[in-house]
Amino acid sequence: MTIDKPAVITVEHLTVSYHARPALLDVSVGIEPDQLVGVIGPNGAGKSTFIKAILGFIKPDIGSVEINGKSAQKAKGEVAYVPQRGAVDWDFPITVREVALMGRYQQIPWYTNPSRVDREAAAEALEMVRMQDFGDRQIGELSGGQQQRVFMARALAQGSDILLLDEPFAGVDAATERAILDVLERAKKSGKTLVVVHHDLSTAAEYFDKLILIKQRMYAYGTPQVVLNEELLSKVYEGKLRIFSDIIKGGEK
Ligand SMILES: Nc1ncnc2c1ncn2[C@@H]1O[C@H](COP(=O)(O)OP(=O)(O)OP(=O)(O)O)[C@@H](O)[C@H]1O
Ligand SMILES: [Mg+2]
Repeated sequence: MTIDKPAVITVEHLTVSYHARPALLDVSVGIEPDQLVGVIGPNGAGKSTFIKAILGFIKPDIGSVEINGKSAQKAKGEVAYVPQRGAVDWDFPITVREVALMGRYQQIPWYTNPSRVDREAAAEALEMVRMQDFGDRQIGELSGGQQQRVFMARALAQGSDILLLDEPFAGVDAATERAILDVLERAKKSGKTLVVVHHDLSTAAEYFDKLILIKQRMYAYGTPQVVLNEELLSKVYEGKLRIFSDIIKGGEK
């Protein structure tokens, strides 16, 4: 039996509202290091809100988030983030290399230019996502899957041990999905903890070590075998899923 390591992300009684309407209600979870964790739940369930609260972008009404024992506000630079694709202005005139270098900005004092170390970290991150040959390309001139990988490079260049990704697989083809998964798995092997919003339940068991099932409240946190059970899924998806048997088979792998 493996003994779980102490949590690197500790969420306690987290309640977050927009205009007095709760998007998350009393969510408590401790996420252990060196894992690929999937966050699942229907549209509007609060998945992106959960990620933003861990990043310290949103102030909770009630409850707390701690990263390695520090408040989310204090730990801001220690968590890297890849936003949901729709949240990015892809027409912004910036090259692939510059986007990767943006991951270093928290480490670069305002009165200096990026150092060689910064440039090397950005170049290494582009290699990790296999986009090293596109450094001079404008970000707007890439395919959706390539843009996604460049944003992953930006997060990797930051050098944080915790990476949060909001639907990195949305709108990419099967080959790109494999390539992104490969990057996530290599990042995990190099000692990172990854929390990934994902909405394809049919691949959730294959991709992730643990799953968090959210719809305003947290319904479950555990291995895919535990979380992908028919009773829980029918409660959260309210009968909108017709292929339970396929998904649950995936959970029993
Ligand atoms: N900035 C905002 N202002 C007001 N309401 C918001 C805001 N952001 C999110 N919400 C609401 O909070 C709830 C949770 O939204 P959130 O974006 O966290 O869901 P999600 O699970 O990420 O959904 P999706 O799968 O569609 O990305 C939704 O009802 C949404 O309409
Ligand atoms: Mg979302």
